[in-house]
Amino acid sequence: MSTTLRSAVDWVEGRLEIIEQTLLPTRLEVVTLASTEQVIDAIQRLAVRGAPAIGVCGAFGVVVGLDEAAPESLDDARAMLDDLVDRIGNARPTAVNLAWAVHRLRDATLGADSAAALRSLALAEALVIQAEDIAACDAMGRHGADELADRHRIMTHCNTGRLATAGRGTALGVVYTKAERGHPVEVFACETRPLLQGARLTAWELVDAGLPVTLLADGAGAALLGTGRIDAVITGADRIAGNGDSANKIGTRAHAIAAAREGVPFYIVAPLSTFDPDLASGDEIEIEFRADDEVRRFRTEASAPPGVATWNAAFDVTPAELIAGIITEVGVLRPPFTESIAAAFAR
Ligand code: MRU
Repeated sequence: MSTTLRSAVDWVEGRLEIIEQTLLPTRLEVVTLASTEQVIDAIQRLAVRGAPAIGVCGAFGVVVGLDEAAPESLDDARAMLDDLVDRIGNARPTAVNLAWAVHRLRDATLGADSAAALRSLALAEALVIQAEDIAACDAMGRHGADELADRHRIMTHCNTGRLATAGRGTALGVVYTKAERGHPVEVFACETRPLLQGARLTAWELVDAGLPVTLLADGAGAALLGTGRIDAVITGADRIAGNGDSANKIGTRAHAIAAAREGVPFYIVAPLSTFDPDLASGDEIEIEFRADDEVRRFRTEASAPPGVATWNAAFDVTPAELIAGIITEVGVLRPPFTESIAAAFAR
């Protein structure tokens, strides 16, 4: 695989570095996030995005916030940590990995006996979260490549690869593993309006890796599925309810419905950190709505009449009944998901 791309989010010599994804595919730039405001802004602007990547970024972001405030007493450090967990954890609402990661940091610091110890426990936990995400990506890749051993023409949506995680990705991680196993894998990437993560990021990432990729408009997905040229649809997820209903980038649900119509299996690939097993169904998942101008404008150009109303939901929920399997780091969960998800969490 190409070495052009380094990790989307990393802790380098005491600094939080991210790839500034809003500049892709034109420029590949790494920037340092040096304050709480910069961390929250980067997450909200999608400079860093993808459920697992924002979890890792949020965890390191709490350490950045502690370093910025430099509390001297343990009480001050705890108050500061609670504030950071609240502010960073709520920067985006749908991807549960973000709140999950910052709460893990808080729990990991409960035994601290000084402000310095609290900071060092927080950083240690953030590094564990990062390492776990890298390992989960590798394991999902293996399980997915086993499951899809005979399915090589893959349709996907949004970006689920090296730009969306600390590792090699979720759905795209399966593609990378298949390629390493010598499978003749080929990706059909939906462009993913309005912010074009499929075109700007997935197509770029796959070209960078030297893998075959064909880009299509989101509205072309059903027609492509109808041609018989697609063996499986695989996407990531931002939050998965206890019954398997899966929230992912807006447009995913339409692909799942079309895939069911054409008899093409639809899989979700996601680590356990993306599950919210206490939610009974996808109806309970909070969906992020974003700015009107993401739909009304194409970058700096108007693409709609000024002031026209929009419905800019950033995510939709694919009902569990349309999902053939959920590929996780502990194996492929199969319907009925209420049982297989409960069993995965009972381990
Ligand atoms: O708004 P984004 O770009 O953060 O949305 C990302 C997605 O919906 C991804 O498909 C999802 O997070 C899975 S990424 C491994």
